[in-house]
Amino acid sequence: MKKEITEKLTGLEQTHLLRHYDELSSDDQKTLLKQIDGLDFSVLDETGAEEERGTIAPMRPEDVKTVAEIEKNRDRYFRTGAEAIKQGKVGCVLLAGGQGSRLGFNKPKGMFNIGVDRELYIFECLINNLLDVVKETGAFVPLFIMTSADNDCDTREFLAEHNYFGYDADHISFFIQEQLPTVDTEGKLMLSDKGVVSTAPNGNGGWYASMIRSGISEELEKRGIEWLNVFAVDNVLQRMADPCFIGAVIESGKQSGAKVVAKAAPEERVGVMCLENGRPSIVEYYEMTDEMIEKRDENGVLSYNWGVILNYVFHVNRLNDIIDMRLPLHRAFKKIKHIDGNGNVVEPAEPNAYKFETLVLDMVKLQDSCLAYEVDRKKEFAPVKNKEGVDSVDTARELLKYNGVII
Ligand code: UTP
Repeated sequence: MKKEITEKLTGLEQTHLLRHYDELSSDDQKTLLKQIDGLDFSVLDETGAEEERGTIAPMRPEDVKTVAEIEKNRDRYFRTGAEAIKQGKVGCVLLAGGQGSRLGFNKPKGMFNIGVDRELYIFECLINNLLDVVKETGAFVPLFIMTSADNDCDTREFLAEHNYFGYDADHISFFIQEQLPTVDTEGKLMLSDKGVVSTAPNGNGGWYASMIRSGISEELEKRGIEWLNVFAVDNVLQRMADPCFIGAVIESGKQSGAKVVAKAAPEERVGVMCLENGRPSIVEYYEMTDEMIEKRDENGVLSYNWGVILNYVFHVNRLNDIIDMRLPLHRAFKKIKHIDGNGNVVEPAEPNAYKFETLVLDMVKLQDSCLAYEVDRKKEFAPVKNKEGVDSVDTARELLKYNGVII
């Protein structure tokens, strides 16, 4: 195997990965060769150039349910969604494989204590919200938690120690997402140890593929799950398996749904739902022209108004159809700990290398239709991204208090 791997690495100009090979035990040598054999080298071709966009247009009114419309139909949506939940047709997927580097907390983000006078963990906030649905519908919603190789053990142990914050463990499963190699600014793969190639979680777009690779498809079939509600770990006001949202998506006859908030200001830095060549899509704030940012409809409402909050509903049939479609890889410049040519550990103070991610928002583009479902941002959007300032621990605490959560 060594010979084949060496040849492969020579062709790719990456033989430095075997620089410390002779210093390794024979077990570690085997492990390293096996890891290299399984690496996805396509990251080496990534230049970081963003994909060409099609023609971007605002969402049509029939694709959006505003808070006012939802209020009018709330009872009916609730009944439809609650019925689907009771019949076991709805599952939840918690994306908890991220590295949370902006928060700078060295444990899984869900383990962060957002409480002030009492302990209140991010995982606990989310599970409390999901328990509201259990109370309302009388049914436990299957919860699938995606972790990464780095944080899987910590996450499982933490939740078990806390007795899953009152959720029934029979309805919780875990799966681990895939990793992709990191690449330095010279286009070289890196070593995190003498016998280990540096990799990072492959982003939140691979969740369904990872779920299926982990053997969860059997469980989906056994339970008869048709809809999967997928959401981020770091929004402490996140409402999962929200019966009204599920009900509105089902009644709309659309293939998917996205919770959205009205933009707080034209220049707010959120991805915005739009139509791209007539299909649902999301345009990032940095891709918008000034004209798009300021554009308003005849009622004075921003045309590109609907910011996504990483809470989507997808139909399992469509997910199965698109599972082999390749999502674009996005490149992020990060601080990546590694070893140098002499085997010394380098902990960079500034970003030094790229990690590669697929994004769940790119799955929206693969849907034939998507309902934008507006929620009140003060009630449902409190992201914990940063230590301080915008979308931080402090802003999330304020919003928790605003919603009557004792912290
Ligand atoms: P972010 O894009 O905020 O990334 O994740 P992050 O890694 O958590 O944080 P930073 O950028 O390093 O500060 C949005 C959601 O997607 C999940 C995160 O856990 C969060 O719920 N995610 C992200 C994954 O599950 N896997 C990934 O590889 C990346």
